[in-house]
Amino acid sequence: MTTSYRITLLPGDGIGPEIMAVARRLLDEVSSSNGFSLVYDEQPMGGVAIDATGQPLPTSTLEACKAADAVLLAAIGSPQYDNLPREQRPESGLLGLRSALGLFANLRPVKIIPALIDASTLKREVIEGVDLMVVRELTGGVYFGTPKGRVEAEGRVRAFNTMAYFDDEIDRIARVGFDLARQRSGRLCSVDKANVLDVSQLWRDRVEAMHSTSYPEVELSHMYVDNAAMQLVRNPRQFDVLLTSNLFGDILSDEAAMLTGSIGMLPSASLGESGPGLFEPIHGSAPDIAGRDVANPMAMVLSAAMMLRVGLQQDAAATALETAVDRVLAAGYRTGDLMIEGCTQLGCRAMGEQLLGALAG
Ligand code: IPM
Ligand code: MG
Repeated sequence: MTTSYRITLLPGDGIGPEIMAVARRLLDEVSSSNGFSLVYDEQPMGGVAIDATGQPLPTSTLEACKAADAVLLAAIGSPQYDNLPREQRPESGLLGLRSALGLFANLRPVKIIPALIDASTLKREVIEGVDLMVVRELTGGVYFGTPKGRVEAEGRVRAFNTMAYFDDEIDRIARVGFDLARQRSGRLCSVDKANVLDVSQLWRDRVEAMHSTSYPEVELSHMYVDNAAMQLVRNPRQFDVLLTSNLFGDILSDEAAMLTGSIGMLPSASLGESGPGLFEPIHGSAPDIAGRDVANPMAMVLSAAMMLRVGLQQDAAATALETAVDRVLAAGYRTGDLMIEGCTQLGCRAMGEQLLGALAG
């Protein structure tokens, strides 16, 4: 009997459905050629779900995600929902999903693809050989801390959020960072703002403690987040695993993405202690280019590869997708975001066709 996996697909908004269509065709191909099958359950989330049900994360969508072996998300969000109360916006659906599935560990690999070196706004000698992993805490910190809100006080309006971590929340994400560092080059850099924030001091204390008790062989360093932002563009090769909190990781991972030339290239995995992982590109729904068949589907395809490798332990199929991306780029095909002189510009669908062809070859 062939192994079969249940995959909940969340195409979402903007360019989401276009890039998801590409990933799905490629997944069909690599699954059948590697002897397993994928059963898809497509569900609305984000703006499309708001339109259909009034909620960004309908209960039926959440249930389908919980029942799946893995969840593949394209992108959510659109300016048309910006005036809704925060908890009814597409982004709240995503945060709700991360939280409900317990996906506290967000892995964002940043690896320079040789063919794209000249697509980066940074110099070749700065980015050549960059291969780092951002480990971002995803279900705590200022994204979820309470109290939060907006009040009127003394005739003024005051809005506030709370950046807070429990010691055990820091420990479980630190463990993910240390384990990854051990599998990779053995270096871990923990990023905080311990010179100013109490929550960061606890973060640093816990990471230090775990280092000496459980991972003495890992080379640990600490860096303030402002310095880390600078070092990422000054000398990114110094980093291997970057461990950081929810908000800092959000910011630093967009910055790190630009080392690779385009945010349209970066996949991510969000994992919990158990249950299905969520795999999604780190980019957004790009409403400005939606429906025009110009989006870059490669971060989506690489997210599907991460799903195969990390979520389903189907390494060969994952490698096949990654190799297809490398081949198509090496052959000079580019979407608009990566276009440089001498290359051939393709739309989203045509890029999908090239990727499909590259799977076979
Ligand atoms: C990301 C995104 C999300 C985040 C938004 C869409 C809520 O920017 O995954 O990085 O801030 O986590
Ligand atoms: Mg972000």
